[in-house]
Amino acid sequence: MDPELERVFNRAVEAGVKLFDTADSYGTGAGFDGRSETLLGRFLKNCPSDEAKDVILATKLAPFPWRVTSGSFVKAARESAARLQLEKIPLGQLHWSTGNYQPLQEGALWAGIADAYDEGVIGAVGLSNYGPKQLRKIHKYMSARGVPISTLQVQYHLLSRFPELNGTKETCDELGIKLIAYSPLALGLLTGKYSVENPPPGIRGVAYKGVLPPLPTLLETMREVGDAHGGKTLPQVALNWCMCKDTVPIPGAKNMRQLEDNLGSLGWRLSASEIEELDRAAVKVGKSTSQNIFQTS
Ligand SMILES: NC(=O)c1ccc[n+]([C@@H]2O[C@H](COP(=O)([O-])OP(=O)(O)OC[C@H]3O[C@@H](n4cnc5c(N)ncnc54)[C@H](OP(=O)(O)O)[C@@H]3O)[C@@H](O)[C@H]2O)c1
Repeated sequence: MDPELERVFNRAVEAGVKLFDTADSYGTGAGFDGRSETLLGRFLKNCPSDEAKDVILATKLAPFPWRVTSGSFVKAARESAARLQLEKIPLGQLHWSTGNYQPLQEGALWAGIADAYDEGVIGAVGLSNYGPKQLRKIHKYMSARGVPISTLQVQYHLLSRFPELNGTKETCDELGIKLIAYSPLALGLLTGKYSVENPPPGIRGVAYKGVLPPLPTLLETMREVGDAHGGKTLPQVALNWCMCKDTVPIPGAKNMRQLEDNLGSLGWRLSASEIEELDRAAVKVGKSTSQNIFQTS
């Protein structure tokens, strides 16, 4: 897929997309070789667009069980920066908290990311899969060290509304942290192409089995709302909803068709009553997509 992905990247940059998100654990195969970061670094370096200078590459550092010292996180950040072909990672994020299963590692994790910021390897610090309680704890630690937390990314979309219901968004607003909505299309479920008869391939089909039966009514409301905006598609409505909720959605696009579709979510806004209508339709589904096992409270 690499040549197609490079075309997708170049077109997205040309269209004004500024933020690209990856992780040191993505696209790695068995060797954890950071292939996704390597590709993204190469795409940016070779990008012909003038807009490329404003692109923010964001990556996530995994708390692998062998990264147990602060130094190992600084080393990981340096290795990511090298793969991205950048001196400094514009946004370096902790991929998840180890609070649920290995709390002792958490201290090294926090110190490591703060050290990477102090040493200039990371330009801005972000988090991922933190809930409001754990977020306050790390915020206290980072504040004491004078390190600002810029972003938190969590699973947020019409089928995963916990961030606005359990105080995550509220806490972010209070602490001046921007919320990034990951999997904003519910891994394709909100595009309307998957159903009970045509489930998503692979593990997605298993994980989302329970959500597929009640999904059609939500999709129908999304369709009606999109039609009222001159035929906006389901993905466009799903992404616009995230933006109207004051979050930054980071949809994945595997080809040019998906990218062009997703770009159509920009430049217009759902009305307040449409957002309420979509919220109500989401409640009627009565089920959420499964949460990341590392998500903390
Ligand atoms: N922090 C974390 O723990 C975490 C976890 C997950 C994701 N993320 C981040 O969130 C980003 C995006 O999330 P995601 O890829 O998981 O889910 P997503 O954006 O909700 O869904 C992306 C998938 O939906 C399909 N799709 C995208 N646009 C489409 C369109 N216009 N029409 C039809 N199908 C379309 C494609 O898959 P198919 O064509 O195969 O259906 C695509 O791979 C990731 O790149 C990652 O950086 C972070």
